[in-house]
Amino acid sequence: MRRSSVSVAAVGVVAALALAACSSSGGGSGNSGAPTAGGASSGGATSAAGSSSAAAGGGGALDGKGAKVGIILPDTTSSPRWVTADPTRLAADCKKDNLNCDIQNAGGSPAKMKSIANQMEASGIKALMIVDLDQASGAAIEQQAKKDNLIVVDYDRLTPKGGADLYVSFDNVKVGQLQGQTLTQCPQVKGQKAVKYVDINGAPTDNNATLFKQGYDSVLSKTSGWTKVGDQTGQWDAPTAGRVFNSMLGKDKDIKAVMVANDTMAGAVITDLTRQHLNGKVAVGGQDATAAGLQQVMAGNQCFTIYKASKLEADPAIDAITNLLNNTPPKTNGSVKDPSTGKPIPSILAVPVAITKANVAQPINDGYTPKKTVCIQQFASLCSKFGVK
Ligand code: GAL
Repeated sequence: MRRSSVSVAAVGVVAALALAACSSSGGGSGNSGAPTAGGASSGGATSAAGSSSAAAGGGGALDGKGAKVGIILPDTTSSPRWVTADPTRLAADCKKDNLNCDIQNAGGSPAKMKSIANQMEASGIKALMIVDLDQASGAAIEQQAKKDNLIVVDYDRLTPKGGADLYVSFDNVKVGQLQGQTLTQCPQVKGQKAVKYVDINGAPTDNNATLFKQGYDSVLSKTSGWTKVGDQTGQWDAPTAGRVFNSMLGKDKDIKAVMVANDTMAGAVITDLTRQHLNGKVAVGGQDATAAGLQQVMAGNQCFTIYKASKLEADPAIDAITNLLNNTPPKTNGSVKDPSTGKPIPSILAVPVAITKANVAQPINDGYTPKKTVCIQQFASLCSKFGVK
């Protein structure tokens, strides 16, 4: 039995978060053989990283030999994923690969992220993986780590100018395209000749938010009869998204579709619609397959969310770090161009899945969104109705 230790610390964990609703120049889809939700759960051959344990050394597990790795997640409020799904999966993967991972959360503070990175480097980490809070602070952290000869990985969000050795994420332009396509098929708007819609975007400090928007705008701007009457950022922040949407709806009562970049913000939009007895009558999109998001989909208040299984990011990211530590080049499925430097960054990009009422049970039955966080109170019967096991 290999010995390894993993410490997981979150700065200012917000329990309420679990109940809150939560190719780019980067995410280009020039990646073949991307991991898909169907398979990569147990290091199966389907992992596009190709560095799954089955592929390593003829079937043996990868061995990081107890090397120390620092992992810094961004915040505890923009999405429940940074508090539950991702740290949990990352910790399990570190254990599997015999890595000594220190997983921390910066609590939304770039200064805190810098301080955590400094502490981790002083503690002797050999690799650093971050989800940046903004491009300048992320790049400064990564440039320092590169100077100190650490392996540096961008997790989920590309950090322009950071100089990372690897970028592991979903194809985020594809995420946006999927959001746009799915929104046009929502029952509230499908087949309608004229649809007024608004965008409520993620934080402009997040390269992913730019890519999601590039994706959904490329679809919606070409959809016949669809007219955008509002376009603002919700900053990944529920109260901001609620205020922004309330103002948009106040200006135009005929809004029929809301392209919201993630579930946390979609929850705030639905709260506002419910206040005006419009919930379920307006098509609302989201992302992250959060417990609240899945509940809203079952209730008919949210048309869809996007399922980005953390196994498709965490597994290949940790395997790749282990390979790099062993001077074995990880198998990537493409490269993306740093939008600031133009430099190619080897990448592993997974494929997202749209979740509607038709397949709302999938993230729960996969174990991604814990059943005990979704199928409670009035949702217990809805879970059974929608095929939750
Ligand atoms: C993005 C991430 C999404 C979304 C958002 C808020 O960068 O890819 O999953 O939740 O951050 O945290």
